[in-house]
Amino acid sequence: MLNRLFVPSRLKANEEYIQHLADRIVRDVVRTGRCELIKEISVPFVTLVIADLLGVPSEDREVFSNILDQGPPPGSIAAEGATTDVGPLEFMAGYFVRYLMERRAAPNGDVLSDLATATYPDGSLPDIIDLVKMSTFLFGAGADTSAKLLGNAMLYLARMPDLQQQLREDRSLIPAFIEEILRLEGSSKVTFRLARRPTKIGEMEIAPGTKVMLALAAANRDPARWDNPDQFELNRPKLREQVAFGRGGHVCSGAPLARVEIRIIIERFLEHTSHIALDEARHGSASAPDLSYEPSFIIRGLEELHLKFTPAAA
Ligand code: HEM
Repeated sequence: MLNRLFVPSRLKANEEYIQHLADRIVRDVVRTGRCELIKEISVPFVTLVIADLLGVPSEDREVFSNILDQGPPPGSIAAEGATTDVGPLEFMAGYFVRYLMERRAAPNGDVLSDLATATYPDGSLPDIIDLVKMSTFLFGAGADTSAKLLGNAMLYLARMPDLQQQLREDRSLIPAFIEEILRLEGSSKVTFRLARRPTKIGEMEIAPGTKVMLALAAANRDPARWDNPDQFELNRPKLREQVAFGRGGHVCSGAPLARVEIRIIIERFLEHTSHIALDEARHGSASAPDLSYEPSFIIRGLEELHLKFTPAAA
């Protein structure tokens, strides 16, 4: 069911929304000349995109964006012991119960109607609460990850003016840029598996029943796989073999969406500016900036990223 959300026709409709949204957001912020990217741009942008994909009514979208913005990221060490990690998703659950009940009673062709009326192979309907969990899970899975990836990507651009110019002159290089950022600075550091039978990872024997935490970020810098693994290189062969979205049967279902939304907003940033710079008043010098990352064992991403923009000539 979930994967049906990400079929090309659905993504195509969503892409038009993303184009308009990104253009509006970027024009506004470039006019202002500066911003704190994560809170002001990344979080509202990716939240509104998922909300659109699911068919959340437009009048409720800002509420979702604000509530997500207030919670800590998944896997936050700072929030250990607190329940705030699930707070925003629980809050949204109330809305989704209503949407799904309404759609089940009167389907209107949107994604929420598809979810509300989908059946198991034996023809039975899932419990509403399971659908609610799945819907809110999408916000958890897709909001922080994409928001932080945009921050990680914009940091590279701000610190590498030549790269910025190269991408402005040849936008077809942007997808490769995003793959290399996913490899070097993918926003999900780890994923998990449960070993069902005796297995081996590298030299390590794994007994059945063992929970395994796989360090995707480390695999993406494995010197046995990648030459100069810590270097940023735009022309790496087989770059799509990076594992920032996981691999196999549970590979990230939202990867196509994440790639599209990040590409589009970066295109808009490059189009509407002639220069993007780190705000040195906030982060110190661009060559050795003072940056602070989320204290999370899952998420790799900046807490804040202050940028300055020079608008493109009219
Ligand atoms: C840069 C952004 C993203 C990153 C780095 C990311 C990363 C990941 C990773 C590492 C996994 C686990 C894969 C595995 O264990 O093999 C995953 C699973 C998943 N992601 Fe993403 N994700 C991103 C964006 C999104 C978005 C935008 C959505 C949806 C709107 C999404 C939905 C999911 C779902 C539903 C799963 C579970 C798939 C399954 O278990 O079958 N993700 N993601």
